[in-house]
Amino acid sequence: MRHLLSTLELNRDEAIHLLDLSDQMAEVNTREVKKLPTLRGKTVVNLFFEDSTRTKTSFELAAKRLSADLINFSAKGSSVSKGESLKDTALTLAAGGADAFVIRHSASGAAHTLANSGWMNVAVVNAGDGTHEHPTQALLDAMTMRRRLHGIGATTGRDLAGVSVLIVGDILHSRVARSNIHLLKLLGAKVTLVAPSTLMPKTELFDVEVKQDLDEALAENPDVVMMLRIQSERMGANFFPSQREYVNGWALTAERFARLQQKTLVMHPGPMIRGLEICSEAADSPQSTIVEQVANGISVRMAVLYSLISGERSLDV
Ligand code: CP
Repeated sequence: MRHLLSTLELNRDEAIHLLDLSDQMAEVNTREVKKLPTLRGKTVVNLFFEDSTRTKTSFELAAKRLSADLINFSAKGSSVSKGESLKDTALTLAAGGADAFVIRHSASGAAHTLANSGWMNVAVVNAGDGTHEHPTQALLDAMTMRRRLHGIGATTGRDLAGVSVLIVGDILHSRVARSNIHLLKLLGAKVTLVAPSTLMPKTELFDVEVKQDLDEALAENPDVVMMLRIQSERMGANFFPSQREYVNGWALTAERFARLQQKTLVMHPGPMIRGLEICSEAADSPQSTIVEQVANGISVRMAVLYSLISGERSLDV
């Protein structure tokens, strides 16, 4: 694997290998000294043209826990405001020597451009590009499902065959949904999408089940309910009549949460809008994996950086 740009580019063995490696990293992250020397002398550049809390900080921690040097770049406050291009920004940051770029950008395809431009010979990780993909989010979601559904210590080599996952909300603008759909299908899960018709993309592209009625979909007792953020920053117009109507139709309200089986996992990639997408009763419940997803994100990003830039170095955990 040279880059990680999309979950569509992974095959089943590569995906399972990354998840197994992530579980090994999770064990390191339980130790008093959460550190491996594996990427000593390597440099990771965090190149963030769009806001982030979880992804940026977890890539930072992941690089540090593997002993890599780290450059943290945010477009805000940088020479991007003076008109500097993606190419010149990347070349500038690579000038001191870089082994991996982690890029988040509002333009779909920005990570592919950086990886395939020939501007530099550096591994590229897509940390979210527009409405396109967010592959490490899908990997951390799959890691979370494996650990909750199979049990920590019983995950190695296992996929998600037979697991039913309901993805709910703004699927049209969601790079998280796209990456999850590809990866979940690869791992054998059954995916159903639920959204208002205005927030549902052309689903024949995905070959998954589609519903408009959330209550009907919840009545089928899915193993996982994954709520999505409404991506207001990508909406040039109103995609639903009012927040009240969205909540009535597509939010995980307290009333809907009370109807879920106690074994059903409640997921959200964050940032979540409480009261609009999900109620606090669900988000703060033992069924919720929202904080675990963030913690697993560090392990997944350690696994990805290790896989891309460690070369022949062994993982001495
Ligand atoms: N889930 C996710 O990508 O969160 P951030 O935007 O905070 O990185």
